[in-house]
Amino acid sequence: MNESSTTSPVKDAPQSIRVLLIEDSPPDALLIRGLLATGFTVTHVTDLGTGITAAHAPFDIVLLDLFLPDSRGLDTFTQFHSLHPELPILVMSGLDDEHFAESAVSDGAQDYLVKGQMDEVLLRRAVRYAMERKRVERALRDSEAFYQSLVESLPQYIYRKDAQGHFTFANRRFCVELGRTFQEIVGHTDYDFFPAELAAKYQADDQRVMAAGKVFEAVEEHTPPGGEKEYVQVVKSPVFDAQGKIIGTQGIFWDVTARVRGEEKLKKAHTDLARSREDLLRTLADLQRSHSRFKEAQQQMVEMEKMQTVGQMAAGIAHEVKNPLAVIRMGMDYLTNAIDTAGNEAVGTVLKDMQDALHRADGIIMGLLDFSAPGKVDLRPWDLNSLLRSSLNLVKHELKTAQVTVETDFCENLPPVLADTNKIKQVFVNALSNAIHAMPEGGRLTVRTYIKKLTPEEAKPSPGARQTHAFRAGERVLVTEIDDTGTGIPDDKLARVFEPFFTTKSTGKGTGLGLTVSRKIVELHEGTIQLQNLSPTGARATITLRTEKN
Ligand SMILES: Nc1ncnc2c1ncn2[C@@H]1O[C@H](COP(=O)(O)OP(=O)(O)OP(=O)(O)O)[C@@H](O)[C@H]1O
Ligand SMILES: [Mg+2]
Repeated sequence: MNESSTTSPVKDAPQSIRVLLIEDSPPDALLIRGLLATGFTVTHVTDLGTGITAAHAPFDIVLLDLFLPDSRGLDTFTQFHSLHPELPILVMSGLDDEHFAESAVSDGAQDYLVKGQMDEVLLRRAVRYAMERKRVERALRDSEAFYQSLVESLPQYIYRKDAQGHFTFANRRFCVELGRTFQEIVGHTDYDFFPAELAAKYQADDQRVMAAGKVFEAVEEHTPPGGEKEYVQVVKSPVFDAQGKIIGTQGIFWDVTARVRGEEKLKKAHTDLARSREDLLRTLADLQRSHSRFKEAQQQMVEMEKMQTVGQMAAGIAHEVKNPLAVIRMGMDYLTNAIDTAGNEAVGTVLKDMQDALHRADGIIMGLLDFSAPGKVDLRPWDLNSLLRSSLNLVKHELKTAQVTVETDFCENLPPVLADTNKIKQVFVNALSNAIHAMPEGGRLTVRTYIKKLTPEEAKPSPGARQTHAFRAGERVLVTEIDDTGTGIPDDKLARVFEPFFTTKSTGKGTGLGLTVSRKIVELHEGTIQLQNLSPTGARATITLRTEKN
């Protein structure tokens, strides 16, 4: 072994470059060590075997003579390099064996120098460049290894093609997918692996990507023979050369069948859900409709039954009480005539009170009979406004007492109303009296008439209102409205005003039969009567009747 080392301390150089010099010629070795006197730590050996062993210590570069006692020519480089591939090597040759040096460079040496032509500047620069080149080479290799491992370990299929559609690269996954080796794929086109139709589509896609110079992305579906439909996500992009010219395409794709199926399932579940929700809502609406219809019918039935019972009772009472009342009336008439009241004021007052009470009792009995009697009406054409005027006349006294002013808003030239004059006047008078009673402090009464054509909506019986003969849509009807500025009707009582004996008036003032009888009469006229509150105060009675001509 022949090894010696020279350390040349260099000012301001924190670290000197560690050189392994393998050179058997003493003058050459001396020269080189001289040229590297500063900034370098040179370890010198004279044969290859020793050099290979010495190189296990950390060195930055090797200066290698190709002609040594134990190895000669290119083989010297090859042996050393194969055992220490990480070390940058600067080969030294004589003038006549420069070709060996050139071969060494193409096999991986960083550079070569010709002995006898080197000076200090040249040698130092060559050493630094060689080290730099090796560093770059290493970085490049690392980076390449990094990308290669990435591309090879990715679960996606990756390939590259040239401008003519020949594969230039395929990752392992892609090779496995095609069931070919890398060598069997590279240089071939899609037509060698896929059905012609599919290959043509792939090539057309590639052409489009190259023409547009842009990335192309899509989810594509295909059904393998005898299999189920599959989906792949595809991303294709152009490949550029260093000058920015498009020289081919590259693609990456992966199976998204599970994802697409999941999305499809989700979408279907969504629409199913929306549909069943709609069905449910529709059923619910149907249910609500039939429920309210049922309730209405039930209410009407209960009402009719109640009316019948009350009617029978009323008829019985009226019948039973009518005869005793007649006896009392005859007795009263007799007594009034027989007793001279001139000298006895008290007797006169008593007789008068008794007569008033009798009159009231008569009124009640008449009301009961009106209400219970099956009743017949004698319908004839009348002028509605005149009927109302004479009804107003009948309550003239009450109006005055209660300090109620009257406004009429009559539509002129109305067609005649079909009515039983006495009975319909009874309806009007009751409505007018009710209005007056609702204004004990005075107020305003408005009576209005008009004709109107019923809309389909208006022709329907309003909920709660009984209508024995439904109006037709488009039918012209006569409407009477009696408005007051009185107390109005508490909401919880509004539904009950047509009930027999429902009254808010004190005993002796009202029997609660007025509206019950009115409704009965109006129904015999095939009309309707309704009561509603007005804003801000007051109530309105609306009586709708038929005209002769329609
Ligand atoms: N215009 C109105 N304003 C306020 N409440 C009213 C009006 N019309 C009717 N009512 C209410 O409806 C109830 C029933 O009226 P209905 O005419 O059937 O009986 P009544 O007037 O009480 O007695 P009568 O048998 O003497 O007519 C009244 O007691 C009153 O509470
Ligand atoms: Mg009344």
